[in-house]
Amino acid sequence: MALYSETVMDHFRHPRNVGVLENADGVGEAGNAKCGDIMKIYLKIRDDTVADVKFETFGCASAIASSSMATELIKGKPLSEVLALTNRAVAQALDGLPPHKLHCSVLAEEAIRAAVQDYCNRRAAARP
Ligand code: FES
Repeated sequence: MALYSETVMDHFRHPRNVGVLENADGVGEAGNAKCGDIMKIYLKIRDDTVADVKFETFGCASAIASSSMATELIKGKPLSEVLALTNRAVAQALDGLPPHKLHCSVLAEEAIRAAVQDYCNRRAAARP
């Protein structure tokens, strides 16, 4: 059996939403100290909904596929749903990840949460 599902390979070879969002409303980063991989998520928020999202990932195939799938899963979604996204849901949407690669999907969950937190912090700071 192949190590990676076809969905993982598709998102690794043709990642969706790669890049940087200029003037993002929230930016979040997550890293894994053990493997050294890093993921950065940029969010554009309108009416508490993800209007646009991009990512930059320096990492393995699973991390890139997880970033790509996670951005697809949260695009157009309200922040309440975005915050509820788990790494398991990302891995499931990818038709599974090998057990030793599950931590790669954790980066997506953490980076997205950090980006939403950054958005909330900026909003709180901007309040008079
Ligand atoms: Fe560390 Fe994939 S091996 S994120």
